[in-house]
Amino acid sequence: MPLERMNLSKRAQPSELPEWMDKPCSYEDFRACLVDLAKVNRITLAHRPTLQWLDRLIAVPGRGKPLHIVDVGCGGGDMLRAIAKWSKHRGIQVSLTGVDLNPYAARAAQEMNAGGIQWITGDAYSYTPPEGIDVILSSLFTHHLSDPEIERFIAWMEDTAHCGWFINDLHRMRIYVHIFQTLSKTAHWHRFVQHDGPVSIRRSFRTEDWRNLCKAAGVGLDAVQIRKRIPGRLCVGRLKT
Ligand SMILES: C[S@@+](CC[C@H](N)C(=O)[O-])C[C@H]1O[C@@H](n2cnc3c(N)ncnc32)[C@H](O)[C@@H]1O
Repeated sequence: MPLERMNLSKRAQPSELPEWMDKPCSYEDFRACLVDLAKVNRITLAHRPTLQWLDRLIAVPGRGKPLHIVDVGCGGGDMLRAIAKWSKHRGIQVSLTGVDLNPYAARAAQEMNAGGIQWITGDAYSYTPPEGIDVILSSLFTHHLSDPEIERFIAWMEDTAHCGWFINDLHRMRIYVHIFQTLSKTAHWHRFVQHDGPVSIRRSFRTEDWRNLCKAAGVGLDAVQIRKRIPGRLCVGRLKT
């Protein structure tokens, strides 16, 4: 059945609906996808919710020391590059680390201008610096995980991040499937991106999903903020005060 006609009332699990980007492919294809994803992020103002949440985080009294920020599933690293600019602009000292399971991500991120950012190949839990982690972020990452994996990820972030964590992902709405299909064809984005965009939306979230996932992970709903961000994002933030 065409994706745009599928029932979106329930989140599809990654095993039911695979993305091409998660399958073995050449470095050239993976890198080209990341380049186009950075364009998608720019056009859809995807950095904004994360940067605005970071603004709230640094406004918490007592946040004087340099922040160690980790982006899980960082891909080509455009979010961390946006954070590097944000920190310069705000005069905030940060140390930035991108973690991604696919070794092509670190290679592509370095080629796209590393600028003092550390790139690590490994899964979310493999990076354990002795000084710990202040902030854990992700963008377009959680829809790559099954529900039990997301619960584990939330519980790990809650235990690990000293100051807070922020998930920036897609909002499962039919309108966004149509908009993405039109945009990606018109802009001639990479064939993987044209295929994976609607699949990602089908695997993404509604507010109720995040409520259930946070509860199952043992994080109280009074501790998290779940916010729709037009166009197409649904974000979950946890600020520790
Ligand atoms: C759609 S890309 C998102 C890239 C980037 N964060 C962005 O917003 O454009 C998802 C990334 O998550 C990575 N990934 C998937 N499963 C992972 C895991 N278990 N641990 C770390 N990275 C993972 C993939 O390799 C891929 O680079």
